[in-house]
Amino acid sequence: MTPDDHPQSAALDDAEAAYLERRAESLTELGADPDERAVEAALRPRSLDEVIGQHRVREQLSLVLEAARSRERTPDHVLLSGPPGLGKTTLAMIIAAEMSRPLRLTSGPAITHAGDLAAILSGLNEGDVLFVDEIHRMSRPAEEMLYLAMEDFRVDVIIGKGPGATAIPLEIPPFTLVGATTRAGLLPGPLRDRFGFTAHLEFYEPAELDEIVRRSAGLLGVPADPEGTAEIASRSRGTPRIANRLLRRVRDYAQVRSDGVVTRDIAHRALDLFEVDHSGLDRLDRAVLDVLCRRFGGGPVGVSTLAVAVGEERETVEEVAEPFLVRVGMLARTPRGRVATPGAWTHLGLSAPAGAPFAVDETLFEAD
Ligand SMILES: Nc1ncnc2c1ncn2[C@@H]1O[C@H](COP(=O)(O)OP(=O)(O)OP(=O)(O)O)[C@@H](O)[C@H]1O
Ligand SMILES: [Mg+2]
Repeated sequence: MTPDDHPQSAALDDAEAAYLERRAESLTELGADPDERAVEAALRPRSLDEVIGQHRVREQLSLVLEAARSRERTPDHVLLSGPPGLGKTTLAMIIAAEMSRPLRLTSGPAITHAGDLAAILSGLNEGDVLFVDEIHRMSRPAEEMLYLAMEDFRVDVIIGKGPGATAIPLEIPPFTLVGATTRAGLLPGPLRDRFGFTAHLEFYEPAELDEIVRRSAGLLGVPADPEGTAEIASRSRGTPRIANRLLRRVRDYAQVRSDGVVTRDIAHRALDLFEVDHSGLDRLDRAVLDVLCRRFGGGPVGVSTLAVAVGEERETVEEVAEPFLVRVGMLARTPRGRVATPGAWTHLGLSAPAGAPFAVDETLFEAD
């Protein structure tokens, strides 16, 4: 196989199509239809200045990019980690935009063979930004090829099979890899170490989410009063994507049941209807707590068991529900399994049975 047999642009298009399809699927799981995806894209900040919150990451990134610009070099590889919907894809797009370079998109699951990656890499131009979403799901051989590409801007393309196989080294132009992962812990050390800069995205504060909701309401032309946006922000699980989604649901409610203005009362009623509680917990979050407390007496229980009990994939429980429950102090991860904290019992309106295995954390001491 020569590169001519396998036009690189076609391979890239395939990778992009596969990437977009997967993203579409996971967004559908999150309840978005194609229209909503278009809205989500329209709400994405386009430059670092437009990004709300994440001050530290923004400052660090802006420094890395500015330094690269002034040296006229491609910036170091960047790893973005954090729970879904906090802005990893947004930042990847911004990195390319700030460097005035095209962004190539692909994702770990789309790269099943090292050859897929070789095709993508050999199609890059100098300075391109290659975004690999869900980089922790890449196949092992592709990962090993990526080590070499990141460090030496070179890949070994294997031609043929068995004893007759030969490795042909292929130079690739300097590029910037931007990897995104919801599970930095699953990345092998050698891969993690090859990123020059790692940004951990944190959940957003209510005031930041409020700013995001106000910005989005402005862009969507939705009239909203400050108490209305604050109510949405406080129930958004610290997550911009959720804030934007809740805004759209509240807007629907306001249009159909009221005069179209998002007020606190309208937000309140709409979010109750969509089963988002006052702490921002959604059905899955509550299901996890419910099973943990009612069926397993507060734990400890393994995450796989928990996932089966709520009828979800283990990854969804681990990557979507748990980080927020941990953050709000309702769930603790212990070596023996997941444990409900006193906050979880209170939230469910239950009293913990005597001997419930509370994890030792500050909430225990504060409660005294
Ligand atoms: N800092 C921010 N300021 C304003 N809006 C933001 C910010 N971060 C994210 N958003 C909004 O949230 C939406 C989701 O962000 P994004 O797609 O970048 O998340 P992600 O981290 O890539 O999620 P996933 O892990 O599911 O891929 C974006 O469409 C954007 O509108
Ligand atoms: Mg993303």
